[in-house]
Amino acid sequence: MPVITCIDDLKQLYRARTPKMFYDYAESGSYTGQTFAENSSDFARLKLRQKVAVDMSNRNTATTIAGLPASMPVGLAPVGLTGMQHADGEIHAARAAEKFGVPYTLSTMSICSIEDVAENTTKPFMFQLYVMKDQDFLAAIIERAKAVNCSALVLTLDLQILGQRHKDLKNGLSAPPKLTLPTLLDLATRWRWGMGMLQTKRRFFGNIVGHAKGVADPSSLMSWTSQQFDERLDWDKIARIRDMWGGKLILKGILDPEDARIAANFGADAIIVSNHGGRQLDGALSSIRMLPHIVEAVGDRVEVHMDSGIRSGQDVLKALAYGAHAAWIGRAYIYGLGAMGEAGVTAALEVIRKELDISMALCGERDVKNLGLHNLLVPQDFLTEYGA
Ligand SMILES: Cc1cc2nc3c(=O)[nH]c(=O)nc-3n(C[C@H](O)[C@H](O)[C@H](O)COP(=O)(O)O)c2cc1C
Repeated sequence: MPVITCIDDLKQLYRARTPKMFYDYAESGSYTGQTFAENSSDFARLKLRQKVAVDMSNRNTATTIAGLPASMPVGLAPVGLTGMQHADGEIHAARAAEKFGVPYTLSTMSICSIEDVAENTTKPFMFQLYVMKDQDFLAAIIERAKAVNCSALVLTLDLQILGQRHKDLKNGLSAPPKLTLPTLLDLATRWRWGMGMLQTKRRFFGNIVGHAKGVADPSSLMSWTSQQFDERLDWDKIARIRDMWGGKLILKGILDPEDARIAANFGADAIIVSNHGGRQLDGALSSIRMLPHIVEAVGDRVEVHMDSGIRSGQDVLKALAYGAHAAWIGRAYIYGLGAMGEAGVTAALEVIRKELDISMALCGERDVKNLGLHNLLVPQDFLTEYGA
């Protein structure tokens, strides 16, 4: 196994081993990619305050996420088509997460179905829901998540309509890939990926194929979202879904203090400050910049989580110091998965935990619960430049 020292090591391996179509799918933002880039570059503008001559022994990264125990304040965010990044990808990622003691969230747009992941894991996972127009499908998928005991419903609010990612259109993204000449040439150098795919039956949208009626092209994310996603989603519909589900509810994709206030009054168990990893509204502010405004708006009325742009334990530390209770990673674990399957996801989690632990110690802290603004050095215009 290659020596992995950071998330970028996994990204390089992932790029070499995964078909271009799926690498591009993950490694893109919408339109110009500005928000995608700033999600990470804004983390780099925040600095950590070093402390010396303090007792650094007996450190603790364990916490709870939406009331559930976690070995560190990090979870695996929902990622569509994970089973195209690596054969049976959702099962590999869920297994790595359960062994590591962190939550895994299965996307509506996954390749392995809810039932399949449940059969191949031993602990409950979270289920991420996109709200569909088809009420029968919507009711059924909520029941399916209940039937396998999903630990929370993560309701994504920032994708009623799909942000355009240029490369997906140019590559003809589909699951499984259509065998055109460029795809075949690309696959010829990705033999591990191809072998894995030949050995599995899980190559379609497992939660949808066989469950949804009247979808013209079930292989295409683009056609499915344009036909089925409910553009009329509003807080009344969200309330109905909350009642249909009846369990823990996490609202994902909040990026505005006013929306956060509504979500807090709504009685969600947690909200995730997120711009979908820069894949939806290009030109939106980075999540790490919006986080403190949202924390200020909701106080302790709801648990505030964040995602978008996290590539290291130092980034997690900065998010926690800025008021997040937990952080979620998307691409960071997808790089690991594409590089080495379950072992790669575990490697990504290990890298992040170690970086978080060591950086926390060098900040003079022993427990993730004690991190706060006192650990950060923030540029003077960071909060005020855009008057959010
Ligand atoms: C390839 C890819 C697919 C995604 N699919 C979904 C999805 O199906 N549902 C969802 O709620 N979020 C989805 N997201 C967004 C992630 O849940 C998360 O918000 C984002 O990846 C965080 O940014 P990061 O990748 O910089 O960590 C996806 C992200 C990526 C990169």
